[in-house]
Amino acid sequence: MKVVFFGATSGMGRSLARAMAARGDRLFLLGRSPEELLRSAADLDVYGATPVKSAVCDLLQPETFDAALASADAELGRFDTVVIAAALFGTQDQLEADPALTAAVLTADFTNTILFCEVARKLLLARGGGTLCVFSSVAGDRGRKPVILYGAAKAGLSFYLEGLDHKFRAAGLNAVCVKPGFVKTSMTSGLPSPPFACGPDDVAPRILRAIDRGTPVVYAPAIWQWVMLVIKNLPRFVMRRIGF
Ligand SMILES: NC(=O)c1ccc[n+]([C@@H]2O[C@H](COP(=O)([O-])OP(=O)(O)OC[C@H]3O[C@@H](n4cnc5c(N)ncnc54)[C@H](OP(=O)(O)O)[C@@H]3O)[C@@H](O)[C@H]2O)c1
Repeated sequence: MKVVFFGATSGMGRSLARAMAARGDRLFLLGRSPEELLRSAADLDVYGATPVKSAVCDLLQPETFDAALASADAELGRFDTVVIAAALFGTQDQLEADPALTAAVLTADFTNTILFCEVARKLLLARGGGTLCVFSSVAGDRGRKPVILYGAAKAGLSFYLEGLDHKFRAAGLNAVCVKPGFVKTSMTSGLPSPPFACGPDDVAPRILRAIDRGTPVVYAPAIWQWVMLVIKNLPRFVMRRIGF
């Protein structure tokens, strides 16, 4: 695969990018920090055979999207896969106390992620299709007390990806929506670990398999599919009482 990877500088993105490089996929990295991009490209060079290049792209600056994807295309010679693991996070308490942070998280994780997807989608469809893999979250499956605002952005993102799958699969676009449970990364550092918490290397193989198969929705790890099935079916009077 020829992969444009937005957000491979840490966490699950880094683990997934390493797995891709190790099996011979060609990668082009997008991220907000030139230093982090160089560090990650050098790290991936150890795993793969082809030198990894990168371009600056900031989720909070949509004006950077077109040029970044054009650079990726020029370097890879027409990419066929786009992965977006980049996102912002804030705890519900942090977000309730800070409207500017709330605006940044909602803008980055919903509006701008979708704007980036739209540029990528059009490029992929113009060349006959490809894979658009985007990290959403189990937080978007149900309105829940600890993730009301972040979860709202991810819920909208999940619905957008479902719509893409319905409309464009026949034209060759595989929209893959990744729904991680609690994974120990910089995003969750300092938070108490719930049951089924795992590390980024534990989920990367499952996500890579979903990309290969064009699976429209993948929970990672798998147990979260069943956890969320229960949560989605709990009545509201129960949801009001529990803290989950
Ligand atoms: N960890 C979890 O438990 C969990 C659960 C459900 C869903 N998710 C989702 O899974 C994805 C990966 O999460 P993770 O836990 O692996 O996070 P992470 O380790 O914190 O990595 C986040 C990535 O996003 C990038 N990023 C942040 N702000 C950016 C911006 N303005 N422009 C460009 N890139 C930016 C970071 O780049 P820098 O290196 O420059 O900071 C980093 O590469 C995210 O979409 C997250 O919402 C995570």
